[in-house]
This record gives sequence, structure tokens and C-alpha cells, in this order.
Amino acid sequence: MKIGDIEIPHIPLLLAPMEDITDRSFRQVCKDFGADILYTEFIASEALIRNIDKSFKKLKIEESERPVGIQIYGHRIDAMVEAAKIAEEAKPDFIDINYGCPVKKIATRGAGSGMLRDIPKMMKMTKAIVDAVKLPVTVKTRLGWDSESLVIDQIAEELQDTGIQALTIHGRTRAQMYKGKSDWTLIKKVKDNPRIKIPIIGNGDITSGEEAKRAIDEFGVDGIMIGRATIGRPWIFKEVRHYLETGEILPPPTIEEKVEIARHHFNKSIEVKGDRTGFFEMRRHFAIYFKGLRDFKQLRLKLLTSLDVNEINDILDTIKEKYKMQH
Ligand SMILES: Cc1cc2nc3c(=O)[nH]c(=O)nc-3n(C[C@H](O)[C@H](O)[C@H](O)COP(=O)(O)O)c2cc1C
Repeated sequence: MKIGDIEIPHIPLLLAPMEDITDRSFRQVCKDFGADILYTEFIASEALIRNIDKSFKKLKIEESERPVGIQIYGHRIDAMVEAAKIAEEAKPDFIDINYGCPVKKIATRGAGSGMLRDIPKMMKMTKAIVDAVKLPVTVKTRLGWDSESLVIDQIAEELQDTGIQALTIHGRTRAQMYKGKSDWTLIKKVKDNPRIKIPIIGNGDITSGEEAKRAIDEFGVDGIMIGRATIGRPWIFKEVRHYLETGEILPPPTIEEKVEIARHHFNKSIEVKGDRTGFFEMRRHFAIYFKGLRDFKQLRLKLLTSLDVNEINDILDTIKEKYKMQH
């Protein structure tokens, strides 16, 4: 698959952009497990053009992450063009536009998935960004605003004509938020359109190698993007790649291995985010890294409330010892 000059020799597995999840620390962990393409969390164009420090920090990427895209969102064309130029200065490999976020305060203002209610503006904005930057521009969106307006197969062609270099489709409508099941048949419809030349990346509900293989075989997508299933389970990229290559299911990591993955992720999170935020953002991952362990309540509580690096490391050592040889 090719996005501009970025060439991935096999069908790529992409880490979905996720706010408060896919920071530099988590991206690096996923990269280590074979994620082919990474994205930053989405960044508000209005915050970038106003120099808001927290948003500027999200632009930072490391060489080892490449290829990596910076994702931006917003409802004003001028602000989005300006933000795309600012993002370009951070030297990502591509710029991704978010036309999929369903969150009320974003979508009802016309940003994210809200743009699905104003297709002419979506095209105008996309073209303006493509024209303003030298880097490849990509788009991530949903099937449509609701089940009455499943516009994806029409807008895919129009988006391609603006000059974007790849399109990611999350197989849900805005109205569905994250409920129900992703409908990949509409993603296939886009892929089956002979006019579509750009890569189509499928997204929604992939949690295993078998599901990824089915998505590739049945729906013909050029890449698979994985979101929620990576949280507390970054090794999913290794599992999926192994299954695609061999048809075999890898056993999950042992608890000892999980502890070391979680520790590495935690150290990186503290390094990247600084103390408090680093701890807070790890909690969601920790909860899933060790989900399902028997008699884990006390340790879990400590792990999810501690604000002390040494204490977290002690808890991780205790988990390792107590659940030795388990998965
Ligand atoms: C906590 C969370 C944060 C998200 N943040 C973003 C975001 O910043 N940008 C974006 O395009 N999508 C975002 N998404 C949507 C995901 O990228 C993805 O499209 C969605 O979760 C469906 O894929 P999945 O079923 O593999 O999780 C977010 C999803 C979640 C659960």
C-alpha cells in the first residue's frame, strides 16, 4: 500500500488515532509490536492556531515512529488550513483530517463527523488543505451522519478528486457513536468502485487475526486500522500479523511478559507526559493489561490509584510473582 511516497510492502496494520490513548508512549509500544502506521491523537485546529501548549505538545513525534500522521480537526476552513501548515512543520509523514469524531460538542459545531452534514464544505476544506501543504493528506471518516444518509460511497470519489492519498472508513454512522456493529459492506462498496484508486483503510471492531483476515478477504480493504482492541493489548499487532502470515493463532503473552510490556509503557508514559498525566493515562491501559486475573481486586485498586513510580513498580513485581506462568 502506498500513501504518497510511503510504501508498505504488505497490507498494513494501522494504530487508530485515539484521544488520551495514542500518545507517543503508546505509539512506540505498538510500533515495537509491528504497527505499520501510527497517528497522533486528534488535535484541534483552533488550539494550534492559538498556540495552546497542550495541543502543541501533541505534535511531537519521534523518528522511530515513522511513518506517522498528525491528525487535525475543526470546523473553520481557514483555521484548518493554518493548522495543517503548523502540523507540517512538525515533519510528520502525512496529515490526516478527522471527519469522523462523533462527540456532541465537536460534531454539532460542524467539526469531525459534523462535516458529514455539509459535504460541499467538506470538499472545500479538504481541497484547501491538500493545496496548502506539500505532505500527503489523508481523511478518516464514517459511513454517514445516520442510517438515512449513508453517503460514504459518493463522498469517497469526491474526496479522492480533492487530491487526498488515502481514505480510512470507520464502518459506523455518527448516530451510532460506538454502538452496534461496524458495517464493512459499505466499505467494500467503496473498494468495489472502479474509479477509486486511492488506498481504502477499513476500521471498526477488529479484535483478532481472524477478523482482520476476513476483512481483507471479504471486503478487499488495503489496510486494517485497529483502535480499542489495542488498549492494554498492544501485542495485537504481532498476533494479527502472525495470523495473516501463517494462519496460526499466537498464544497471548504470559503474565511476566505482560508485566514487562506494561512497565516499559508506564516508564515511557511518565517520560513523555510527566508525572500526573502519565499516571492518569496509564490507568486505562493497566486495567486491561491485567484484566481477568483471579483475586486481583486489591492490587488493581492500588495500581489504578497510585501516584508513586516506586509503588507502581513494586505492584508490577508482585503481579509478576503472584501470577507466574499464567496468561
Ligand atoms: C477513547 C477513544 C478516542 C478516540 N479518539 C479518536 C481520535 O482522536 N481521532 C479519530 O479519528 N478517531 C478517534 N477514535 C475512533 C477510533 O480511531 C476508531 O475509529 C474507533 O474506535 C473504531 O475502531 P475500533 O473498533 O477498532 O476501536 C477514538 C476512539 C476511542 C475509543
